Order: sequence, then C-alpha cells, then structure tokens
Amino acid sequence: MSMTIEDCGRVRDGFPRPFPNTPSNVLEQMRLNGKVVVVTGAADGIGYAVSEAMAEAGANVALWYNSNDIAVQKAKDLAATHGIKASAYKVNVSVAEHVQSTVAKVVQEFGKIDVFIANAGMAISKPILEQTLDEYHKQMTVNVDGVVYYAKYAGEVFQRQGFGNLIITSSMSAHIVNVPVDQPVYNGCKAYITHFGKSLAREWREFARVNIVSPGFFDTKMGASPQTVQEAYRMSSVGRQGHVKEIKGLYLYLASDASTYMTGSDVLIDGGMDTTLCVISLQGRWEDIPMCLDLKGSDE
Ligand SMILES: NC(=O)c1ccc[n+]([C@@H]2O[C@H](COP(=O)([O-])OP(=O)(O)OC[C@H]3O[C@@H](n4cnc5c(N)ncnc54)[C@H](OP(=O)(O)O)[C@@H]3O)[C@@H](O)[C@H]2O)c1
Repeated sequence: MSMTIEDCGRVRDGFPRPFPNTPSNVLEQMRLNGKVVVVTGAADGIGYAVSEAMAEAGANVALWYNSNDIAVQKAKDLAATHGIKASAYKVNVSVAEHVQSTVAKVVQEFGKIDVFIANAGMAISKPILEQTLDEYHKQMTVNVDGVVYYAKYAGEVFQRQGFGNLIITSSMSAHIVNVPVDQPVYNGCKAYITHFGKSLAREWREFARVNIVSPGFFDTKMGASPQTVQEAYRMSSVGRQGHVKEIKGLYLYLASDASTYMTGSDVLIDGGMDTTLCVISLQGRWEDIPMCLDLKGSDE
C-alpha cells in the first residue's frame, strides 16, 4: 500500500543531504587534476580518445589493453604531452584474476581509483542460428563478465575509499534491435550491462556514481562494417558515423564534478540514429519506416 500524504511529509533524519562542495565555474568543475582514471580497451578507438580526454583534463590515467601493445607508447606520449602520470597494463578482462590483480596494481601504483571506465568490448555479429556457442561465450566473457569483474573489484576499492565513479560503455544496440545485421548476442550483452549499471547506481548510492554511455556507430574497428556502413550513414540523422573526438566531452562530463547530480543514467550518443524516429524527423521518408521495423511488405 502506498504512503499517505501525511506519511510522506514526515521529516527524516539526514535529509536533505548537503550540496557537493564543487566549484560553480563549469570549466573548473571539469578539471580532473589529481584524479586517477582507469580506461579499459584503451589502446585505440573510443577508449584511447577517452584516455586522451582524461589526460587533457589533468587526470592520471591507467590504460588497460589486451593485445594492442601500442598502448604502452601511447601512455608514455600522454604523460609527456600533458604532464600527468600514465601507464599501460596488459589485462584480459574476461579473466577475473587478471582484473582483480590489475585493479590492485593500479591502486598500489596510483594510490586510488577515482573513475573506472568500463569500455573494452567485442562483437561477433551473426544471427543466433549461425553463431557457435563458443562465439556466444566469447562475447559474454568480455562484454558481460568483464563488466561484472570490474564492478566487483573496482567496486570494493570505491567502497573502501568512500568515493568512486563507474562509467560503462554500452551501445545503442542495448536500446534498439540494430539493423541490418542480426546480432542478438551482442545486443543482449549490451542490454545486460546497461541495466546492471543502473542497478549498481542504486546499490552503491552511499559511495559511488554509475552511469552508462550508449554510442551509435563510431568510426573505429568496431564501428560499421563495410557491408553495413551505407545503412549506418542513411539511418543516422547526421548522415555519417561519429568521430571519436565527438565522444570525449561526454565521458569527461560524466567523469568530472560537472555531473555530480547524475547517477543511474544512460546517455545515447548516436547521431540521431534511433530505428524509426530518425527517419521520420529528418528525412520524412515514411515509406522507409516498414523497412526499419523489419515489416517490409506488411500493411501494419
Ligand atoms: N564503434 C562503435 O560503433 C561502437 C558502438 C557502440 C558501442 N561500442 C562499444 O565501444 C567500446 C569500444 O569499442 P571501439 O569502437 O572503440 O572499438 P575497438 O577500438 O575495437 O575497441 C575495443 C577494445 O576492447 C578491447 N578488448 C577486446 N577484448 C578484450 C579482452 N578480452 N580484454 C581486454 N580488452 C579487450 C580491445 O583491446 P586490444 O585491441 O588491446 O585487444 C580494444 O581496445 C566497446 O565496448 C564497443 O562495444 C562501439
């Protein structure tokens, strides 16, 4: 039974909580000097652009990579260019012990973790009837298990510290059934981590914030494939994929004190690609809507 208005009006101890002691100047809010940020999948693509954003804002950065050891040189370059501390760590995020030991190593070498950016991911984009169970497990271990392991081990650090900030790279594919390639496992992995992240935001409400970024197509190794890129251009309201420099500001906002009132949020950044709405709003091509909904030939 819901509460009465009188019950709801009862003053409760400890509320309202104080506003955060942060600068009022928005550019100062976005400075990350002295903060420690971990970025997974940091050698290239979205993860490297985000690492660069963190370093540009003054943070010390731990770049996690798996196979692309260019991350080692990129960490050195970031440190030299921005006068911050940056190191690269080789970690297979689908192995719990690697995640646990590397979280501990980062804390030992950097002293703390302010922000953990759970960005590593992979896709084997196929219909379920063509996908092997090995391919299914591989996607689950990186895209889902990896995020659960960060949550466990970085979450323990956040709880111990009394502060922390987890940002999860999900996907527009957590919101929509992406077209034209059928990839239910990848879509399902991303939907899992989006809802997992929202759930963590509540669980960790006393000590850490958790938010989700849901990108549309970005021009990286995991962006639209040659077979799908034309459709990616057509479906996007801006007629192209995103450049990774266009996502840096969003992660910086979420990592910084500019977003202290934001937790449990899922931010779409997809160039206006949202199954049907983009077609209606930008191009007004009503005849394309059945195709977007995969109802071609239907009168619905
Ligand atoms: N680009 C897009 O259109 C798009 C759209 C929506 C969501 N996303 C998401 O954005 C994130 C970044 O992708 P991206 O587009 O920047 O592509 P990317 O450059 O291929 O980045 C993926 C990263 O994940 C890392 N990774 C893969 N398996 C790993 C493992 N077992 N352990 C540790 N790291 C592993 C890779 O590391 P190594 O290279 O070192 O092996 C790579 O750096 C992913 O989560 C992806 O699902 C991308």
